[in-house]
Amino acid sequence: YGAALALALGYLLGSIPFGLVLTRLAGAGDLRAIGSGNIGATNVLRTGRKDLAAATLVLDALKATAAVLLGAWAFGPAAALPAAAGAIIGHLYPVWLRFRGGKGVATFLGGLIGVAWPAAIAFAVTWLAVAAATRYSSAAALSATVVSPIVAWAVGPPDAGLVFALLAALVWFKHSANIGRLVAGTESKIGKA
Ligand code: G3P
Repeated sequence: YGAALALALGYLLGSIPFGLVLTRLAGAGDLRAIGSGNIGATNVLRTGRKDLAAATLVLDALKATAAVLLGAWAFGPAAALPAAAGAIIGHLYPVWLRFRGGKGVATFLGGLIGVAWPAAIAFAVTWLAVAAATRYSSAAALSATVVSPIVAWAVGPPDAGLVFALLAALVWFKHSANIGRLVAGTESKIGKA
C-alpha cells in the first residue's frame, strides 16, 4: 500500500496551485479572469510579472520532484512513480479549487526530473525548440509530452513510459481549448494576451 500512500502524498503536494497563490500574495490580479484563465506559469506571464511566472514554473515543477523524493524516501523506490502521478493529478484536479486545476506542464516536467531525468532533458529541449519556432507555449508543451514518455520508456524505470504516456493524455485533454485555438490559428503567443 506504499504506492497508494505515495499517490496521496503526491496529490497533496501537487494540488498546491502556486500560480494562484503567488499572484494573490503579490496582488498581481486574478489569474482566472485574465488570458486563458489558467493557473499556470504561461498565464502568470500574462499579468506582466516575469518574476512570478518564473517562480510559478519552478515551484509547480519542484512540488512534483519533491513528491517523488519524499515518496521514495518514505515508501521505497517503487513509490517514486505513483508519487509523480499523484502530483500531476493533484495539479490537474485539486480538491481545493473544486477540481478546476491547471494543465500540468511544469508539474509533468518536475515529475520527470524525479523519475527519469534524461526524459526531463528531452522534455525541456523539445519545449524550448518548439516554443522558439512557434512562440506557442501550448504547442511546445503538447510536443514535449509526446517525446518525453518515449524517452522515459527507453531509459527510465519500469512502467515510467506507460505512466507518463497516460499522464500525457490527461495533459492533452486539459489542453482541449488550446488545441482548438491552435487549429483555428487564434492561440495566443508567449507573453501576449
Ligand atoms: O502551461 C500551459 C500551457 O501549455 C498553456 O497555457 O495559459 O496558454 O492555456 P495557457
